[in-house]
Amino acid sequence: MKITLTVDDQTIQTQDNSSVLSACHSAGIYIPHLCWLETDAPADAPAACRLCFVEIDGFREPVAACAVTVENGMTVNTGTVAVRSLQKTALKLLLSVHRVDCKPCPANRACQLQNIAKFLGAGLGCKPFERVLKEPEVDVRHPVLDYYPNRCVLCGICVRICRQQHQQTWLSFAGRGFNTVVGYFDADPDAAADCLSCRACLEYCPTGALVQRLADDDR
Ligand code: SF4
Ligand code: SF4
Ligand code: FES
Repeated sequence: MKITLTVDDQTIQTQDNSSVLSACHSAGIYIPHLCWLETDAPADAPAACRLCFVEIDGFREPVAACAVTVENGMTVNTGTVAVRSLQKTALKLLLSVHRVDCKPCPANRACQLQNIAKFLGAGLGCKPFERVLKEPEVDVRHPVLDYYPNRCVLCGICVRICRQQHQQTWLSFAGRGFNTVVGYFDADPDAAADCLSCRACLEYCPTGALVQRLADDDR
């Protein structure tokens, strides 16, 4: 069923089972996001990146737009001072564990972190947070992909896309807390062929964290 809501003084229509983020996205209203997939229902959204905050009348605090289902007559504000402050803090926290070295990065100029920083007018610094990086800089255990943990925002999209494409996943989260990374699940020798013909994780990754390894001859 179609319902109507007001976003930033603009009236938009959407399906009644949409998330606020999905409704805004369809109406061309940009809300920063890193961990949301267009196929996500509000109940499935991992709400991990904490970037998609909005204010909704009747809610005491800003909420993650990807995880809230629209209601008829809802009034949403996507650009309040409180929202922007939370988004900038979330971005800086991500950048505090990020190797910002864009020139050699394959995502340079197509990177969602860069786009969000630009949208928020925030730059790629992390002050007042201290920058702490992981080691090693690159994980080469996957047969055909290189993984750069210090470019990864742990959005989980690669893991979810892999599961959607293959009814199982070659990628999964490993470790805990600061040491969480995307790991390669190496139980099956068919992974390399599967990954080379698929590449969905490379396509969907919002940063340059996953890179197809070049054959020695192509380096
Ligand atoms: S992932 Fe984005 S912000 Fe990070 S180094 Fe690459 S281009 Fe720069
Ligand atoms: S590798 Fe890319 S898609 Fe996977 S969790 Fe990291 S940033 Fe997200
Ligand atoms: S897109 Fe909503 S929390 Fe990441």
